[in-house]
Parts: sequence; structure tokens; C-alpha cells
Amino acid sequence: MPINELIEKLKEEHAAIPGIIDDAVITYKTGNLSGAFPVIAEVRETLSQHIIDEEGILLKFLIDKVGKEAAEPYIRILQDHPKIMKLVEQSVESTYTGWTETESDLNLLKETLAEHHRQEEAELYPKVISLL
Ligand SMILES: [Fe+2]
Ligand SMILES: [Fe+2]
Repeated sequence: MPINELIEKLKEEHAAIPGIIDDAVITYKTGNLSGAFPVIAEVRETLSQHIIDEEGILLKFLIDKVGKEAAEPYIRILQDHPKIMKLVEQSVESTYTGWTETESDLNLLKETLAEHHRQEEAELYPKVISLL
């Protein structure tokens, strides 16, 4: 997939993920715990591929173009990824042990993603597009 199309896909995922997280919460709150699990698993799947695309394709392209030193500020944005995936794993795990912690895990995940996505769309994506 060409990089400009990939960035469009990544932006669409940024826009869709908060709604999917809300769906998980709503599904649970209607009493459907087993229905909420696959929704969270879908978030995990989408985000793992999303992160592979950002690190394996966008960051690699950026480093090839400008070098590692000039890519440093963008690398710092992508260093949020392990923290984000840890929150996702925590949310998935807390659905096994009961929902008590899941909702606060999911809310924290949503907040963390909102700031992360804002930085990517304000800084990383425009930088990559400027180099195409
Ligand atoms: Fe990211
Ligand atoms: Fe992203």
C-alpha cells in the first residue's frame, strides 16, 4: 500500500478506535460480559497491526530519508507504543477476573490514545507526507 494511503488508513483507525472501546463498555453494561471480550480483542488486534505499520513502515521511511538523529522527536512519540499495548493487555486480562478494573483501564487507554493520536497527526504524519 502506498504510504499516503497507509496514512489515511491509520487516521481512520484513530477515528474508529475510541468508538470501539465505547462499544466494549456499552456491551458489558447491558450485562453481556462475554460479548464485551471480543470487542476488546478487536481493539488489541487493530492496534497491534497499526503499531507495526507505524514503526515498520512510517518510521523506517522517515529514518531512511532524514537519518536517525533528525527522526528523534518522532521516535519519541512512537515510544508510547509499549505503554499503550500494556494498557490493552491489562484491559483484556481484567475481563477474565471481572469487570471492576476493566472500565478504568479502558478509560485510561482512551485518554492515552487521544493524546498519542493527536501528536501523530500533528507531527509524525505531516512530516512523513512532506517527504513523499
Ligand atoms: Fe502510534
Ligand atoms: Fe497511530
